[in-house]
Amino acid sequence: RRPAGAPDKALARPIGKVGVIGAGLMASQFALLFVRRLRVPVVITDLDQARVDKGVAYIHGEIKTLQDKGRISSDEANRLRALVTGTTDKADFAGADWVIEAVFEELGVKQEVFAEIEKHISPTAILATNTSSLSVEQIGAKLEHPERLVGFHFFNPVAVMPLIEVVNTPATDEVTLATAMVIAAKLRKNAVITRDTPGFVVNRVLAKLLGEAMHAVDTGTPFEVVNGALSPFGLPMTPFELLELVGLKVGAHVLDTHHAAFPDRFFESTNLHRLAEHGTILDRNAKGQVTGFNKGAQKIVAG
Ligand code: 3HC
Repeated sequence: RRPAGAPDKALARPIGKVGVIGAGLMASQFALLFVRRLRVPVVITDLDQARVDKGVAYIHGEIKTLQDKGRISSDEANRLRALVTGTTDKADFAGADWVIEAVFEELGVKQEVFAEIEKHISPTAILATNTSSLSVEQIGAKLEHPERLVGFHFFNPVAVMPLIEVVNTPATDEVTLATAMVIAAKLRKNAVITRDTPGFVVNRVLAKLLGEAMHAVDTGTPFEVVNGALSPFGLPMTPFELLELVGLKVGAHVLDTHHAAFPDRFFESTNLHRLAEHGTILDRNAKGQVTGFNKGAQKIVAG
């Protein structure tokens, strides 16, 4: 077995084309980072054309913002736009050297997505998953080549958060790990190699914070009191803002996964599932600034 430390970067495979599966918020954000920092063609796919178009439109919007802020020239903006292709045909992933997914957080869905993509890519292509808290090893269990799968966990907002958790499973081989570390460096992120445990490192800690905050609400403390108590602690966002940032469904899923793995240490929250169905906890103005707690959300937690 390879040593637990950093892999030999000389083993990393060169990346000439990237495939992104999923065109939601996380996937679109990191697709942009791949085009910007690796300067290679990036193909992005999802279940249907509308989802693909939405992802590509997001990327184009962010490229325009970078141009408006003077961070990139108009030539550079055109070059970046030309490198992004949306598709619903997985055959367009042929030739990709690095394929990363950020689809719905369900084990079966992720296994299927990779089984399907494996038919279209070369045996030397590396696969990565952005899963928040599923087992990376289980995601790869149905692959013909599970040794080429690694966890590559970004944080929202991708453009700003400096960390990537590179999840090393017992099946991941050294070439895969080395490639992931080299890519993270090219994306100008700090990478840490984590074990394939529920929530890796960051979500394990976040699940504690968010779970305790939701538990306080679930047991009768009003949103405003939890918020008011935690705001002066120097967190960049309160737990409820953070839950909305990661997505209420994703947040509920992260709490469920931790509760299932460590029932004596983590809470699950039925209210958070109800709030996810409702869609929001906070009210915001047109600029997206928080103006207060949503009445419907307050009604839900009041029972
Ligand atoms: N996309 C791109 N850029 C963004 C952005 C976004 N969604 N949100 C903010 N930014 C950029 C702004 O454009 C600005 O860039 P500029 O300086 O070039 O103009 C910069 O970030 C700072 O933005 P603001 O001035 O609006 O800043 P704030 O000081 O309020 O910081 C924040 C915003 C960085 C998002 C800060 O509130 C923060 O760090 N929040 C916590 C985020 C966090 O913990 N994320 C991890 C969530 S867990 C996760 O993702 C894992 C998953 O598995 C659950």
